[in-house]
Amino acid sequence: MKLKIFDTKELASEYAADLIIDKVKNNKNTVLGLATGSTPIQTYKSIIEKSKLYDISFAKVKTFNLDEYHVIDKYNEQSYHYFMKENLFSKIDIKLENTYFPSLDQNYDELIESKGGIDIQILGIGLNGHIGFNEPGSSLDSKTRKEKLDQSTITANSRFFNSENEVPKFAITMGIDTILKSKKIVLLAFGKAKYKVVHKLLNTTKFDSNFPASALVLHPDVEIICDKESYEK
Ligand code: PGA
Repeated sequence: MKLKIFDTKELASEYAADLIIDKVKNNKNTVLGLATGSTPIQTYKSIIEKSKLYDISFAKVKTFNLDEYHVIDKYNEQSYHYFMKENLFSKIDIKLENTYFPSLDQNYDELIESKGGIDIQILGIGLNGHIGFNEPGSSLDSKTRKEKLDQSTITANSRFFNSENEVPKFAITMGIDTILKSKKIVLLAFGKAKYKVVHKLLNTTKFDSNFPASALVLHPDVEIICDKESYEK
């Protein structure tokens, strides 16, 4: 795992956006794996700006989101469909029919493979070490599936809802195996709340199902991108 630390999350996000923009510039058929949550928002803003500045087209790009709540209407403002439209898809020239989200009525892993596999997967990390909604206990060979959310995840995500009761209890998530099949993985972690989990990850040497992000040590091309707050005490 390669570590990059930036003074601010804006600079860190700009670096992540550059990785994506460069990839798309060199290959218009790039396949991206995308994440939601507060962490990647600035990266998406930077991608939008740079795509305009350098006239980069996403018309042939395909995207696979990591996860989605289950069950939620895709027009619900809390859905990850809605999040992606608001924060990225409506602001670049991507075709919505090329944007995919996991659901139970398809084999998502096969679908990803049929499009050539994910070139760059963006990840956040949960305070409990989850990647996507692979909660502690997820196995290394897990594929896209329905997963019960950890109580700690429900509590953490309640900040986006009116109350904790409104947070869906389940999600459909790419599995750990699905994520590890990506050619490159970029994990973003910002803010002092992530300090503990970032250092736990950086000190990891082998997979531990109680700490799902530990699977990343098995992948040959992972970049951990931190701001100072998440790295320095
Ligand atoms: P966050 O979520 O970006 O909102 O901190 C990260 C995660 O839970 O994976």
